[in-house]
Formats: sequence, structure tokens, C-alpha cells
Amino acid sequence: MCGIIGYIGTKKASPILINGLLRLEYRGYDSAGISTVEKNGLSIMKDKGRVKNLYNLKGIDDLDGTIGIAHTRWATHGKPSKENSHPHMDNSKSFSVVHNGIIENYNELKNFLKGKGYNFYSQTDTEIVPNLIHYYYSKDSNNDKYRVLRAVQSACKDIKGSYAFEIISKYMPNNMIVVRKDSPLVIGKGDGENYVSSDIPAILSFTKDFYLLNDNEFAFLSKDNIEFFDINLNKIDKKIDSIEWNASAADKNGFEDYMLKEIYEQPSAIRETIGSRLPENEPCNFEDLNFSKEFLSSINKMYIIACGTAMHAGLTGKYVIEQLCNIPVTVDIASEFRYRNPIIDKNTLCIFISQSGETADTIAALKLSKSKGATTLAISNVIGSSITREADYSIYTHAGPEIAVASTKAYTSQVTLLNILAIYFAEVLESTSKDIITKFKKEILELPAKVEEALKCSDDIKDFSKKIYQEKDVFFLGRGVDYNTALEASLKLKEISYIHSDAYAAGELKHGPIALIENDVTVISVITDENLVEKTISNIQEVISRGAKTLVISSLELPSNNIDFVINIPHTSVFLSPIVSIIPFQLLSYFISKEKGLDVDKPRNLAKSVTVE
Ligand code: AGP
Repeated sequence: MCGIIGYIGTKKASPILINGLLRLEYRGYDSAGISTVEKNGLSIMKDKGRVKNLYNLKGIDDLDGTIGIAHTRWATHGKPSKENSHPHMDNSKSFSVVHNGIIENYNELKNFLKGKGYNFYSQTDTEIVPNLIHYYYSKDSNNDKYRVLRAVQSACKDIKGSYAFEIISKYMPNNMIVVRKDSPLVIGKGDGENYVSSDIPAILSFTKDFYLLNDNEFAFLSKDNIEFFDINLNKIDKKIDSIEWNASAADKNGFEDYMLKEIYEQPSAIRETIGSRLPENEPCNFEDLNFSKEFLSSINKMYIIACGTAMHAGLTGKYVIEQLCNIPVTVDIASEFRYRNPIIDKNTLCIFISQSGETADTIAALKLSKSKGATTLAISNVIGSSITREADYSIYTHAGPEIAVASTKAYTSQVTLLNILAIYFAEVLESTSKDIITKFKKEILELPAKVEEALKCSDDIKDFSKKIYQEKDVFFLGRGVDYNTALEASLKLKEISYIHSDAYAAGELKHGPIALIENDVTVISVITDENLVEKTISNIQEVISRGAKTLVISSLELPSNNIDFVINIPHTSVFLSPIVSIIPFQLLSYFISKEKGLDVDKPRNLAKSVTVE
């Protein structure tokens, strides 16, 4: 997905911008570019392809400007090409703009500008922006220092859609303007210099002090100062936030790929998620939540809404909340939820899960729930991300930056946090016995060690990956929470190995999917629930008798049978088991992807955070 970097200071901007873009590569992109303020006007260097290609562009070393904007593009309007890459300039080459988001009424605005004599050279929605700014700038006769800012504000009033803009201009050679609506943007404050980015990790090595821009807020930057304005250009104060993440936490730390590093970080990420939330002999401690018994008793229905892996985490959240709190929970895919008419009112609690906190569908679903009167609670890994600013309440997974597109540690942290949240609700509601809760808490505290233990299956999984990496189809089976694990395992395999796979609730097999089972097809099952073991085993026998090759991941003693491969993992209570049982599957997808020589961290067609619909 598109990424933004900006720099304003005393150093040469171009290397800082390119380095920042390299840190954004994980988001996925197809072209990159920078624009700087030079003595003789604005420069633009851009091309399709990788960020490192920018180093080879003629003239890049001659750029001396100390103010600049930069962008990685992930095509939405117009194919990946040099012309469509950002930054974009207006016809008079006075304004340079980068943009994340989508301008919904760009055709209408383009026609308007064409009517005023403006020409367009790209197929993008963004190119209208510098021209619209130029249009309003030309109409303003007041030549004070905010003339460009007023033009930007007028342009924003015309634009429908989502945006984070960075704007530089030859008319304000010592300033930069940024504004956002429904697209992420942060400003990093340095000493005599300031940074802008769509992602905190990209500029973490420069500063830990950030201003988080809200929707429709403008920032007018110089190297020493940042002025903030609301939608009507009234000055506003903003408080600075300090981010605890260490810049080195965002590096690979000796691992070959970010994904592998993040898989191995899971014991410590889960420890961070637990943090001080489970104090000994005391109720669960959620410092950011203060739900009363009266409030929670008024909740007669919950929704958990998310996309992809976060939605799979939500599935386990449903099981545990329903069990401990006796409140019905529906899990919804955000992109479906937002376009139906969900039955929500003030007695509904809607929980939104998003690693990035910037997923467009999840944010839209959150806004819809709020508008219908629900109480909203965001679960995110990114402090200050958009969903956390929209929601009534926010809690964080604290898993540290997740860079690989395929989510691993965010998932296990989300499932951990949902379990703790369920305990918190149950304690407030007094809906589960103290003994059960005490036992459950103890199991949660043992999780990091169990995940550590599960990681030891790596060599066996690597061997198995060599046997199946050339498969065309792989099937995953599970019952209960093991079905949730099967779904997540299947998504992981698709994402990074490009092998077609499907996950089925094992009991559904004979209602159709078993027709796909033939000689030598790989079927991988997960069994962690002692109440369901026999049922799943009989489904496995059904596929074995049709010639399938079988692997079972299990935390239980299995009845002796003719399964081809069994990998044992530590046992834990049923609602926690997806945290342990997903580990072999994450490793399996990783090793298959490596065996096939694929780009594990940046799989084709995918972006880390899906900030457009
Ligand atoms: C996970 O491996 C995927 N890349 C994807 O499904 C992801 O979980 C989904 O896009 C949601 O992202 P979010 O958690 O940042 O909202």
C-alpha cells in the first residue's frame, strides 16, 4: 500500500527520503519517487519499480534541497508507470504533492480543471491536487505566508474521499504542508528538523516524538516549528506522543526474513501483551478500560469485526467470550459488515481488531457501528492508529512492529489479548467462577513458554515442507477452535507460498469437499480439544481411505492409526490452543515459501496494510 515520507531540516533531504522509503517497502508498492525544494525550483525524481532504482536516476546526487517529500505507490488509478508515480506537479511546476488514499470525485474535479485550461499527463486521481491548489492559489490576492495553506484548504474542501497529502511549493521554499483525512499520517519532531510519515517505524530511527494528525487537521511545517490548524484554519494545540518502540526492533535482528524473526518473537510478544494485565490474586487490570458491571450487563450482543488474520483471531475471541460471559458474539468480516444493515444499538459492544489500525474496511465498519449507537472498542498493535482514535475505547497488543506482510506475532498477541479481555468481562460481570478464572489466568501466564516449546518443531516442519512444496492444493481440517487455526493456516499458506489451499470444519467434509480428495492430496489436521479428538480422527480416516497424505498437529495422545506424520505441540486450555497450534503452520508456510524461492516478506499482490477499499 502507498507510503509517505517527508523531511524538512538542514541536511540533504534526498538520502533521508530514500532511506525512509526503503523502510516502507514492506507495505508493498509498484513505484517510488521524491521531490525536493532546490535553489532553482522544485525537482522530481520518480520511476516504476523498486525504491533502490531511485539511486540510479540521473541527477539524483545533484539534489541539494533540505526539504522534500517522497512516496511509494501501490496502483489504484492507472497502471504502474513513471507518469503515474508520485510526486505529482501542477502544470506550472509550482506545487509538488504526494498522496495516500483515493479521491472519489476526481473525474468531476479533473473536468472542472480541464475547463479552466489545465492539462493532465497521468491517469491518477492525485494529479488533480497540485493543479487544484494552483487554481486556488492564483485566485488569492493576499500574499502572506499562509497563502499556500489557504489554497490547500480550499482544495481539500472540494475533494471527496480519503487522503494524506504532503505538499511543497516554490512559493514557500522553507515550509511544507501536510493534511489528512481517513489515511494515516504522523509528524516526527526532531531538533531543528521534522519528519513526516505514513508509518511510525519508517522514521523511528530519527525521533521518538510524534504528533498524530487527526482527520481534517493541517500542519504547516518549518525546520524549527510546526503549526497546527483545524478544518477552518483556526490554530490548534497538539500534544506530543512518545513512542516506546526501539528502532532496532524494526530491523531483522540476524534473521533471514522479517517473517521468521517475527515468528520467533512470539514468546516475548505474548509476554508484552500480557504485561501487567494479570496481577496475582487480583482482578484483571485493563488501565484503559473502566467498564462497570452495570454497563456490561446492559450489553446483550457483541460483534467482533476485522479482516484477514485479525478476523481469524476474532473467531477464537467469540468462543471464549461466549463461554465466560454468556453473551452472544458474532464475528464479521469488516468488508461485509459495512455493506449490510447490521442490527446494532446502544446495547451492542463492537470490538474491532486491526494490527495496523489503518485497514480501511475496519475503520468504515467502526464508523458505521458508532453511528448506530454501539459502544466501540479497538484492539490494535499501533498506538495512535486511526481505529484507536475513532473508537470509544482502545487496548493494545504491544507485539512490537510487524513488518512481514504475513501476520504472525500480531495474530497470537490478538488471541492472547481477546482471552484476557474475556476474563476481564467475566470478572466484572461475575459470570464465571473464580476457580475457573484463576486456572485460566495461570494457563495464560504459561503461554510464552509453551510457544517457545512449540517453536522446537521447526526442523520437523522444514523436512515436511520439502515433501509438499510442489503441491497444487493443500487442505486443512479442524473442529471447534482448531477450525479457526485451520482457517489461519490456510490463509498463511496461500499468502506466501501461492499454493491453493482451503480449510474446512472437519464435520463439513462429507457435505461436499470430500469430493476433492484423491490419491496423494495433502490433508493437514489440527487436534487440540480432547472432547473432539475422536470425531476429527474419524474424518481423517475418511480422507486416508481415499488416498490422502496426512499430517496431524496435535497436543494430545492420538489413538494409534495410519496417519503419515504427526507433530506434537504443548497442550493448553482449549481457548488458548490456537496460540500454540498456529506455530507449526506459520513455520510450514515460511519453509515452503523459502523452498520455492519466493519473497517471504513481500508476497506478490499483497500489502501490509490495506488502507483503501
Ligand atoms: C495477514 O497475514 C494478512 N496479511 C491480512 O489478512 C491482514 O491480517 C489483514 O489485512 C488485516 O490487517 P490489519 O490487522 O492491519 O487490519
